[in-house]
Amino acid sequence: MVRAFAPGKCILFGEHAVVYGHPAVAIAIEQGVNVSIEKFEEWVINGKKFERSRHPHISHILYDLFEYKGAPLKIKIESGLFPAAGLGSSAALSNAMGAALHKLIKPQEKLDLVKLAKIGHSAEAAAQEGRASPTDTATSALGGCIVVSEKKVNGTKHVFDAELMTPEGKRNWIISKAKLPEKVEDLWLILGFTGESSSTGKMVSDVANLLTHEPDKVDLMNNIKEITYKGLKSLALGDFGAVGIAMNECHEQLRDLGVSSNSLDRLVEATKPYSLGAKMTGAGGGGCMVALSRNPQRVSEQIEIAGGTPMVSKLVSEGVRLV
Ligand code: MEV
Repeated sequence: MVRAFAPGKCILFGEHAVVYGHPAVAIAIEQGVNVSIEKFEEWVINGKKFERSRHPHISHILYDLFEYKGAPLKIKIESGLFPAAGLGSSAALSNAMGAALHKLIKPQEKLDLVKLAKIGHSAEAAAQEGRASPTDTATSALGGCIVVSEKKVNGTKHVFDAELMTPEGKRNWIISKAKLPEKVEDLWLILGFTGESSSTGKMVSDVANLLTHEPDKVDLMNNIKEITYKGLKSLALGDFGAVGIAMNECHEQLRDLGVSSNSLDRLVEATKPYSLGAKMTGAGGGGCMVALSRNPQRVSEQIEIAGGTPMVSKLVSEGVRLV
């Protein structure tokens, strides 16, 4: 049996804007998806018969991306992430599935994380009507703090380039690693799930429609870009107070873009008094918010009181790995 784990991700700055080439900063979180695979007499997934039509994401990875033609497989997926909640669960699934498959098919060959991230990106693009940045898959594959942008961002280390033909034209991204300061042990990311799942594809397409019908809203994208640069600079300097302020500002822009929700706003407001900063994270329209805090217990309590479900992650987590 082969087994792999891939982490989820949390976007600190730049969601939605990154689809248009602006920078985003994302961090791999502790929680993620475990996939185990073994050869078996029939196709089984989580104890049930595996049918292509019922598992399009897995089928796409197996047949289109890995061109799997081998024996039937028994697949087990265990997720520690809230589903469809902005934490990159589908990217983590692609990466964990890809890593496990790679080990099964080519046990001698070293796992190529960049190839895995690219495979995952193409699966995300297929699921999001051709509009997907490589943020989720790259962060889950590489771990740590990832910067994704059309342009090279100063102070980051280049890892790979990605491109995609979207309905709005061809997009190119540079994927780089940002170094976090050494002393981050007393800082935590507290994720708060609203309990409402949302479709990333729909949220991304709503934003595309908004920008077509209200071109002035492009200013919000530019504001998010400036906030992201500011946040990243503060992160590199270890000025977490300023990182938090930038997170608060980013939330306001995303709210004006129409991708927040009442429950997200409620959780963000409830956690602010005990956090350095708080914002929605990921595609929005439900899903999760994130707070950066030195007091994870108090913030978790606030999330529960406001009707959400908390999950705490340390700031530095590794990427996909065989386990
Ligand atoms: C989803 O985690 C983040 C979005 O920016 C979409 C994407 O980057 O593909 C909303």
